[in-house]
Amino acid sequence: MSAEERIFELIKRYWESASIFAANELGLFQVMAQKEMNAEQASEAIGIDVESARIVLDTMVSLEILQRSGPSYRLGPSLQKLFTSGTPISFVISHFQHGWQNWGKIPEILRGKQADREVMTDKDLYNYMLKMDYIAKLVAPRVVNFLNFTQGKLLDVGGGIGRYSILLAQKFKNLKITLIDRSRVAEIAMKIIAQEGLQKHIDVVSGDILDFQFEDKYDAALLANVLHLYPPKKVEVILKRLRSLLKNSGQLIIVDYLLPSNKKPNLDFLLFSLHIMIHTQGGRCYSIGECYKFLKNCGFSFDLVKRIDTSRLGPIDQRFPTLIIATRE
Ligand SMILES: C[S@@+](CC[C@H](N)C(=O)[O-])C[C@H]1O[C@@H](n2cnc3c(N)ncnc32)[C@H](O)[C@@H]1O
Repeated sequence: MSAEERIFELIKRYWESASIFAANELGLFQVMAQKEMNAEQASEAIGIDVESARIVLDTMVSLEILQRSGPSYRLGPSLQKLFTSGTPISFVISHFQHGWQNWGKIPEILRGKQADREVMTDKDLYNYMLKMDYIAKLVAPRVVNFLNFTQGKLLDVGGGIGRYSILLAQKFKNLKITLIDRSRVAEIAMKIIAQEGLQKHIDVVSGDILDFQFEDKYDAALLANVLHLYPPKKVEVILKRLRSLLKNSGQLIIVDYLLPSNKKPNLDFLLFSLHIMIHTQGGRCYSIGECYKFLKNCGFSFDLVKRIDTSRLGPIDQRFPTLIIATRE
């Protein structure tokens, strides 16, 4: 492919994403997950005219999301499962659609102007949390495999809707967990933890880790996918705060996308870094070396570093999901 062809290919890639967002927003995948349909049936089910439906359906076939046999269209068996499972992928698609609006404002945001970022409505926030849960379902079991608690108290900081806390509570029956997150997220976490019947093991509190008044000291704190939301100075403020909440020799468990020292940032890592810059006030992806310095400056020793294997979700793996276990000195 010539350089000219390559750039043409790249600059129109968003057409593909946008057509998937449209099909998802129109509810096409949800109806196709129920049964196979021809264009007339699909057009009626999603409320658009038959000719437009046919173009959308054929586009989805070309993108290998739908399969076509004669006049009938259907979702392939593995995708059908994803669109009907406990965490339907349609929430993840909606979350990316929301992010796409901010991606359109990159120049403004990078120039440091007070860009008019899209505020998360309750629905957007719910989609974001389900997308985080989708990833957590894959990563958290592997993280939990490295941990061992016979008893004690763990603080899950920015615990989202609670996937890590739930797995920890299920595995370590005598571990008492407190999950803290901001109010709208904490509300969702409470419901999900209640559905799992784990209210007695996991206490959900609503607030900011920097100023919530905790009565306890903790044996361990988990910081999963929070570090990259903050600029370096704020990361250190958070780590110092966690140090003050941990008992002597308490464990700090960090899960984040961290660039290994022997790797150059690859495309997915770089695009994710950009995504974080666009969506946060100064957050970014850090390297393991930077994380080491943060921990040292904040009174932690660095015990274990492990790359989490998420190869089933190729692009996520390319962002180097990493587990770090540190100890309060
Ligand atoms: C990317 S999500 C990670 C959720 C979960 N830990 C996981 O890995 O799936 C980050 C979470 O941290 C929460 N968070 C960020 N800053 C926080 C703060 N200062 N205090 C409490 N929660 C915070 C956000 O509300 C969000 O739910």
